[in-house]
Amino acid sequence: MKKILFVSSEVFPLMKTGGLGDISSSLPAALHSFGQEVRVLTPAYADALATLRKVREISIAPAGNRLRLVESENPETSVPIWLLVHPDFSDRPGNPYLAPDGRPWYDNAERFAFLARAAVDIALDRAGLNWRPDVVHCNDWQTGLIPPLLGTEQARPATVFTVHNMAYQGVFPYDVFKKLGLPAHLWAPDALEFYNQMSFIKGGLVFADRINTVSPTYAEEIQTEEFGCGLQGLLRERRDRLQGIINGIDDVTWNPAQDPLIAATYDVATIERKAMNKAALRTALGLQEKAEIPLVAVVGRLVQQKGIDLIIDALPELLEMQIQLAILGTGDALYEQQLQQAARRHPGDIGVRISYDESLAHQAEAGADMFLMPSRFEPCGLNQMYSQRYGTVPIVRRVGGLADTVEDANPTNVALGRASGVVFHEPSAAALAQAVRRAVALYRDPPTWQRIQRTAMEKDFSWRQSARHYVDLYTLAIGDCRLSRPPSLRVATSS
Ligand code: ADP
Ligand code: GLC
Repeated sequence: MKKILFVSSEVFPLMKTGGLGDISSSLPAALHSFGQEVRVLTPAYADALATLRKVREISIAPAGNRLRLVESENPETSVPIWLLVHPDFSDRPGNPYLAPDGRPWYDNAERFAFLARAAVDIALDRAGLNWRPDVVHCNDWQTGLIPPLLGTEQARPATVFTVHNMAYQGVFPYDVFKKLGLPAHLWAPDALEFYNQMSFIKGGLVFADRINTVSPTYAEEIQTEEFGCGLQGLLRERRDRLQGIINGIDDVTWNPAQDPLIAATYDVATIERKAMNKAALRTALGLQEKAEIPLVAVVGRLVQQKGIDLIIDALPELLEMQIQLAILGTGDALYEQQLQQAARRHPGDIGVRISYDESLAHQAEAGADMFLMPSRFEPCGLNQMYSQRYGTVPIVRRVGGLADTVEDANPTNVALGRASGVVFHEPSAAALAQAVRRAVALYRDPPTWQRIQRTAMEKDFSWRQSARHYVDLYTLAIGDCRLSRPPSLRVATSS
């Protein structure tokens, strides 16, 4: 049994802007069920505090200041959770990273440096909590300062840094580095310095005992110029400490057989009941009732990563194919406007909801026939896994975690009963349209289609395998931590 401090800037259902929130809920729960002792640390955002029932407030004393933690448990999973109270988190409702004008909060560096410092004091048992972890598991740039700050300590826990997305790096001007009062040796190209700026994510990538990403393919991709976002060289240097572990899903929340958010529950034996969900989804999005027309869903952040522009460019061709589209998301204003405009032009065939709506996301997974995810890059992706579980055939680009979780319906895979979706390669509207055309042809062949749906629904996307890989990763990190001198000292002597 290991003691793990899991630090994340969002934890479902307290806060979620994307897959990180889901994973920060479901992975600790899986580790907990495997007998690991997990505590989650996350900011006490205003919206998160409102969600909690059972709370105990405690004062901790990191860095000489008294701070407040709310001690509670995740309402979905019962995993113990500490929420760090500070007005910069707790007095701001809404998105944790962005101000109402859509731009990053002006003080994000200070806010997440504060989270890191509290994590370090808890990790070293200096906060009076009487608990000392073996491993601190950090997630994404918001936690990137934890490994370098721990690095200067002699008796420290091991550190694991998980990259959920290389494209978000937490880069700030040098002035911010000075303002944060970080140790001077961290201003170096083999520490936090990144082209004369300060990079939070580099803290994790340089100093963590072990690094992982959320799929094996993405772990390879980020070592290349195309996907490495400028950090490919560093990742190649540390490749012996880097691996990919595919995300699992919360298979209780995302289970069509017992999902309270959908119109009709179903499983692989009662898949015909999916039709009721299709009717409900059409109604919800104002789509026309048309027999035998496949309904294609898109749910996600409307950003370049997700290939939304490819969908917009492909719309004229897609509409010729006799399909309907159900789109749910929020993101770049331009994509939001273009999609809404398309919906106005094609009422009844394109339904667009610009909002963040957990229930509608479940209804889209249950009601659609196909799920479109043409991502430019995708560290893992959860929706394609939810789709397969719901018998909703994913159409995805062969990239990152999409490549690792969807088996293309080519004739061989179909014959072998392995096909679970449609996979295409080129990041172009033409290739996307071609893939949808292929999916529609398969849909018109019901025995083949139902076989693909069954294969998809029977795949195991639970945490059973992956959580064990994390336990092994923690063991490796603990070994590396014992063997190594503090990495910061290595940096100090080599620069
Ligand atoms: P990413 O983390 O890059 O956004 P993932 O596929 O890993 O992508 O996870 C996205 C998660 O966020 C899924 O659970 C998805 O259902 C959810 N989600 C994204 N946008 C919305 C939305 N507008 N409404 C409801 N859920 C959403
Ligand atoms: C990120 C990635 C997504 C991944 C999620 C959870 O937001 O964009 O691909 O599934 O993190 O790891």
